Amino acid sequence: MPLVTTTEMFKKAYDGGYAIGAFNVNNMEIIQGIVEAATEENAPLILQVSAGARKYANTVYLKKMVEAAVETSGLPIALHLDHGDSFALCKDCVDSGFTSVMIDASAHPFAENISITKQVVEYAHDHGVVVEAELGKLAGVEDDVKVDAKDASYTDPDQVQEFVEKTGVDSLAIAIGTSHGAFKFKGQPKLRFDILEEVGKRLPGFPIVLHGASSVPQEYVKLINQYGGNMPGAQGVPEEMLRKAATMAVCKINIDSDLRLAVTATIREHFALNPSHFDPRQYLGPARDAVRKVVRHKIVDVLGCNGKA
Ligand code: G3H
Ligand code: 13P
Ligand code: ZN
Repeated sequence: MPLVTTTEMFKKAYDGGYAIGAFNVNNMEIIQGIVEAATEENAPLILQVSAGARKYANTVYLKKMVEAAVETSGLPIALHLDHGDSFALCKDCVDSGFTSVMIDASAHPFAENISITKQVVEYAHDHGVVVEAELGKLAGVEDDVKVDAKDASYTDPDQVQEFVEKTGVDSLAIAIGTSHGAFKFKGQPKLRFDILEEVGKRLPGFPIVLHGASSVPQEYVKLINQYGGNMPGAQGVPEEMLRKAATMAVCKINIDSDLRLAVTATIREHFALNPSHFDPRQYLGPARDAVRKVVRHKIVDVLGCNGKA
């Protein structure tokens, strides 16, 4: 099976009340850990590449490794551009064989967001590629750009119909209180399910995307700090909230930080316990296993997409 778009996956996820995991990939071990978990659970998968990942690993390497994942697993896998910030970047990904791109023009005023998104949609659709856009602004850190909580804004349900109609976009990321990175909530975690519900009513059958959906497992934060790290106590998105969102209109849930925490905690612990190791396989192997464990847990206990490939 070749790489697939998200069209079929989202339709089934919407109707079935579950969500597909979209995991950020930056190197071979992360890709392998994710794909091993999805294979064990027979789950559909979105592997997503940010502009930072393209710069770090080279988009050709990432694309070839994702093709290897498709070939070895036989799973339906979509290759997605995460947070494309320009038509040029989205076009480059469409031209190089991605099956899905995100144009994130959410920092622009509404009318400009529409016109940039529409331009990407026209080009992508002409090439059989689907498009995700964003309305509203998440807080947190993306590609070294920090959006302060005070500059973040919830999605306005009154705008979603017009946005989708005018752009022809295939899925929409909305801001309901999640944020990027490992530090999400200072106090009690709170998501605006009222906004999600209202958006769902305005766009029946239409797939919604949740960014900034890492749960920040405390066992990894503790391990990092136990072995020389210095991460402030942080709250992620409680998994029961993600499960609830997955039963609503949310069909795609983005997870990156939890994988980073698992990799870093595992490698820190490994060196603390094995200070003389210097073969990268000795610590990257356990890091890959940790990614597999996190993703398997997400698929089965959070997303509910196990057995849906
Ligand atoms: O939303 C951002 C993703 O976590 C990607 O992060 O831009 O550092 O690769 P990155
Ligand atoms: P997290 O930082 O919560 O993992 O969010 C990742 C994300 O939204 C990627 O687009
Ligand atoms: Zn994101």
